[in-house]
Amino acid sequence: MSDPIASITAFEALDSRGRPTVGCTVVTRAGARGRAIVPSGASTGSHEARELRDGGERYGGYGVRRAVANVEGELFDAVRGIDVTDQGAVDRALRQADGTPDGGRLGANAILAISVAAAEAAATTRGLPLYAAVGDGPRTLPMPMINVISGGAHAARSLDVQDFLVVPVGASTFAEAIETVSRVRAATGEVLRDGGATWALVADEGGYGPLLSSNRAALEVLMTACERARLLPGDDIAIAIDVAATQFHSPAEDAYLWDAEDRRFRSDELVDELVAWAADFPIVSIEDALAEDDWDGWRMATERLGGIQLLGDDLFVTSPDRLRRGIAEGVANAVLVKPNQIGTLSEAREVVGIAHAAGYATVLSARSGETEDHWLADLAIGWNTGQLKIGSTMRSERTAKWNRVLEIERELGGEIALARPAFAGGS
Ligand code: PGA
Ligand code: ZN
Repeated sequence: MSDPIASITAFEALDSRGRPTVGCTVVTRAGARGRAIVPSGASTGSHEARELRDGGERYGGYGVRRAVANVEGELFDAVRGIDVTDQGAVDRALRQADGTPDGGRLGANAILAISVAAAEAAATTRGLPLYAAVGDGPRTLPMPMINVISGGAHAARSLDVQDFLVVPVGASTFAEAIETVSRVRAATGEVLRDGGATWALVADEGGYGPLLSSNRAALEVLMTACERARLLPGDDIAIAIDVAATQFHSPAEDAYLWDAEDRRFRSDELVDELVAWAADFPIVSIEDALAEDDWDGWRMATERLGGIQLLGDDLFVTSPDRLRRGIAEGVANAVLVKPNQIGTLSEAREVVGIAHAAGYATVLSARSGETEDHWLADLAIGWNTGQLKIGSTMRSERTAKWNRVLEIERELGGEIALARPAFAGGS
């Protein structure tokens, strides 16, 4: 069934940090509509696709009026008349119109807005929910990886490590998974309050942004919270961390600097620290253990921590080329997938395919700047990513995605199972 793109409108929307982002509606000749608003990161890698921002006075330079104009102008001209159900053709036309490897001329934010809105319109025209329209195989619900304590760029650098997350490995349904993590989150608040920590701050992704004495202390708080919630560390709940090491790596000094603890590390010393944490805590996943271009350090980390899920975010930036290099060099064993790091849904999906073919796990991820839009939840299911990282269990831009998965689980009843990543006994 062919249904050509007939019109596109766009607008300057706001993300959850109050910064502008691009919203867009694609309408087809048959009258199907698809609407999407795109996210935006703070702890971005230098190899990511480039958002187009206006500069100048408005919104401190973060305005996206030029990107919005490009959606309705050059990019619309490029996709007008293309069959909306042919996602590959739509995405190729968008990339060609931009002409740069990083999407920076017309804006990766503008390109992704059309790519996702087209997928939504295609689902509508085919009479399918988005997850069914974007997928082609047996599906699972993703195991959630949920932020409880934040540091780094998302919490005014109160801690150097960016994300302390939990994974409800003992849950047998998605609804149970979310409820289990909610218990951990509530108990963490009590532990922080009882310990006298400044605990009321809510970080960019809805987690706590406490002032603690060390990064290790955050892991200890999570363990105490699990006990208080009567959950067994390792069996019911496992820990994941996003070190986001690019953020505290100094290329000039060739060192990793933890300001909050006044410590500095070479690559091998940072790996030593993580190995020690992994020995003391039930850590199943470590993201961005080292900086985006520290390939030697990453190789060493993969050798020494290979029993753990080693997840490349700034390292791979959802780029097929960077992921292929990682696979060839035996670096990491999992990839974080953020569609706006690369620009189009087709390329993000290609990364999922490359990873799975090589035995790498995939974690679909939101950004720190999100919106009420929930297309990411459908992609996690349709693409069978196995894991989903959205932030906390509160704040509407986070819950919009969890709620969408909860809704789909309920609709599909027993037809769809919760994925078991390798660290939770799956394959
Ligand atoms: P970002 O952070 O969206 O601010 O880049 C998310 C992450 O590092 O995983
Ligand atoms: Zn990350």
